[in-house]
Amino acid sequence: MKIARLQIAALGALGLVLGLAGTAMAADGDPVHGRTVAARCLACHDLNTGATRLGPSLKGVIGRKAGSMPGYAYSEAMKNSGVTWTPDTLDAYLKSPTTYVKGTKMAFAGLPDAKDRADVVAYLGQATK
Ligand code: HEC
Repeated sequence: MKIARLQIAALGALGLVLGLAGTAMAADGDPVHGRTVAARCLACHDLNTGATRLGPSLKGVIGRKAGSMPGYAYSEAMKNSGVTWTPDTLDAYLKSPTTYVKGTKMAFAGLPDAKDRADVVAYLGQATK
């Protein structure tokens, strides 16, 4: 009985530690997990060769003005959004693309999970250079 209670306490402490580690990771973003999340983007986006798929290449996306990849037929909404892609604007866009850029033709529902977004942005930072 006493041992069982100790085990529960130990599990609780472990859970706390893992929970804190999870929070710290969400702030920074885990590019390894982000790579898994980014698999969903690859159907429509090239990351580093500049090739157009259904969507524009995301090569060099961080720091780029929205709607500025040469040779891609963007929606007017994206071209006129006035957005520059940073980790913060990417997070807001990926949370709900059609809310952040009303009229975008990116047919993607968005990533509701904040950690998924932080992780995919961390991965994009590496993979789109
Ligand atoms: C079903 C296809 C599809 C999927 C899946 C998709 N996108 Fe897109 N994406 C598009 C299209 C199409 C556009 C162009 C939107 C426009 O012109 O309004 C776009 C535009 C973008 C832009 C703006 C690029 C620029 O040059 O301004 C970013 C950033 C972006 N997508 C990121 C992502 C990420 C990250 C994912 C995965 C989490 C993703 N997209 C998933 C089709 C998709």
